[in-house]
Amino acid sequence: MSRLVVISNRVSVPTGGAKAGGLAVALKDLMERQGGLWFGWSGDTKAEAAGVTLPYLVHHENVDYATIDLTPEELDLYYNRFSNATLWPLLHSLPEQMHFDRRSLQAYRGVNERFADVLVPMLRPGDTIWIHDYHLLALASAMRARNVTAPIGFFLHTPFPSPDMLGSIPEAALFIRDLLAADLLGFQTSNDAENFATSAQRIAGAARMAGGGLQLGNRQIRVGVFPVEIEPAEFAQMAEQAFASPETQRLHRSLDGQSLILGVDRMDPTKGLRHRLAGFRRLLETRPQWHRQATFLQIAAESRQDVGAYQDLREDLEREAGAINSTYSDPDWTPLRLMARGGTREAISGYMREARICLVTPLRDGMNLVAKEYIAAQDPENPGVLVLSKFAGAARQLGAAILVNPVDPDEIADALDIALRMSRPERQDRWNACWEAIKDTSALAWGRSFVSALARVGQEGQIVPRP
Ligand code: G6P
Repeated sequence: MSRLVVISNRVSVPTGGAKAGGLAVALKDLMERQGGLWFGWSGDTKAEAAGVTLPYLVHHENVDYATIDLTPEELDLYYNRFSNATLWPLLHSLPEQMHFDRRSLQAYRGVNERFADVLVPMLRPGDTIWIHDYHLLALASAMRARNVTAPIGFFLHTPFPSPDMLGSIPEAALFIRDLLAADLLGFQTSNDAENFATSAQRIAGAARMAGGGLQLGNRQIRVGVFPVEIEPAEFAQMAEQAFASPETQRLHRSLDGQSLILGVDRMDPTKGLRHRLAGFRRLLETRPQWHRQATFLQIAAESRQDVGAYQDLREDLEREAGAINSTYSDPDWTPLRLMARGGTREAISGYMREARICLVTPLRDGMNLVAKEYIAAQDPENPGVLVLSKFAGAARQLGAAILVNPVDPDEIADALDIALRMSRPERQDRWNACWEAIKDTSALAWGRSFVSALARVGQEGQIVPRP
């Protein structure tokens, strides 16, 4: 079996303290089965990292983990600026948040080149290469420029914007050509795949083929839809156990019989948190009958705090949370609890099972696994209600949730009111439909389906080395 080489900005090295999330575990399982190399950034910065071409190596259960440091300047320009202040808002179609400067674009390309410089000497004949996410849009072409002929797949975890939105930063649109150096391009939804294919046609002159592929000169590139999944049965079991844990029981007691409304996100401008708080405020304003009957716990784990838009978001949320609480609190009731600290996966799964409602209202999201985890965490006999943005990839599968426009506070308030009143039979019907949509899926099967699609590209002999 071909060795699987995974490249991502962050690498989940097993000897580290932090516990890996579901997706990282699935990738690790795949690599352990067939032998693997996982390459990326160590998470550290060192001034002298620029000239270093040898990675740190850790071998664990059939997988080599190889990482490199970034220089402080690379971290600032490649990660904070171009990846997270240019590409992230661009890919999420949030033009008002986009920042652009040429220096960070150059540094971004430079880091992609350096990844290729370090990685290519480690490759072996027969390897299959799988690149992940928006930090590495130029890596496939950088590898081809170094004569790598192995099958290369690329999966984008974020949405892919419309050609017009992409064109608002013409320099970024040129990454389409770099991506076309891969053999298989995977997206979360058919909408993302379609947006990419249209841009490839316009920008690179690729021809559309029947069955979703693209033809570019004498090369064929497959474009596929691979929605990211969780391990539903495992998550359900974890939530059931965590529900009985001291942490969840403390939360339960603190609610004193009230319904819990829960939000679990990274503190990120795409997650719709400002509008979500405005929606909760609308609920309190227009439906005083819910005062003292419901409490909203928003876990907004601090993220990317060196990026200005993220700092602004934190300030705004803290201000608005304070304003909501000072307006509506009673001496013995605080309507909103805002936490900038994340929790363990176990603890959060228990909170999810406790929650009568989960609010998942990103402005846009590639998939959103919190929505799927909330469904998996429910007690089938007495499930809670998922309120989900219609602009999350997960809405394609979870159409039985209450779907909302995430920028409309009135719609969020209405959805909360409906969810708080919803009868148990209706909650069960909606939950059953959502569970049916995810219960037979798995993160491991997701990884396998991508890798086997990539292997098929190889077998069909569609890989023609670039001139
Ligand atoms: C999103 C991206 C991932 C990224 C994660 C956390 O899910 O698609 O690539 O790793 O956010 O963000 P961070 O900047 O902390 O890696």
